[in-house]
Amino acid sequence: MSRFGSDPRAFFESVYQDIPPWDVGGPQPAMSALFDEYPPMDPVLDVGCGSGDHAISLAQRGLRVTGIDFVEAAIAQAGEKASSLPPEVAHLLDFQVADALQPSLLKRRFGAVLDSGFLHLLDPVQSDRFIDDLALALLPGGRYYLLGFAIEFSMPNLPRQVTAEELRARFTSEKGWHILDLRPAEFLSRVAPPTPAIRACIERLPAERG
Ligand SMILES: C[S@@+](CC[C@H](N)C(=O)[O-])C[C@H]1O[C@@H](n2cnc3c(N)ncnc32)[C@H](O)[C@@H]1O
Repeated sequence: MSRFGSDPRAFFESVYQDIPPWDVGGPQPAMSALFDEYPPMDPVLDVGCGSGDHAISLAQRGLRVTGIDFVEAAIAQAGEKASSLPPEVAHLLDFQVADALQPSLLKRRFGAVLDSGFLHLLDPVQSDRFIDDLALALLPGGRYYLLGFAIEFSMPNLPRQVTAEELRARFTSEKGWHILDLRPAEFLSRVAPPTPAIRACIERLPAERG
């Protein structure tokens, strides 16, 4: 069973009956700082995009962004936000109801994958599978942008802790990754003080020619 019970989608659907705690009215500042320091390559995939604020912020930078989330209400909200944007920004956005655990099922490769609060929802086995699949969805030289909680809560239905050690063990050069940035950050919430978090920007190395 996942951290969010036997039916995680039902759990997240219930959270979207109200304004979710992570919906802070714009992108997480830690994510925006990562985009400033390591400009993403087009096109971008936003996994677990929620109501679309990160995707929209990248479209406003001129990038084409596909945002996926398995909650219809989240995608409907993202679509509504997109429809109020200038047409030259709105046409860069594509929001879809889809499972983000296997981004390669989209049958496209991306210059950047953005993960604000997705990996930290996954247990270790799901995380292994997601990262193996992420490698297939990124173009050579493409980058994975991550923001996740850096502390463990003892309450149910909350994300897990993502540590620097975990990320260094998962994203090794032997597995075709290069960590460009890894440092403490904060995850803002509507309902609580900022949560200690970790941010990372990790590049997918081009395959070596034999
Ligand atoms: C912590 S929220 C973050 C939302 C958004 N990225 C943000 O930062 O505002 C995690 C999101 O992942 C979505 N999600 C969780 N598991 C998913 C899955 N397997 N496939 C697609 N979306 C998923 C949830 O519905 C929720 O919108």
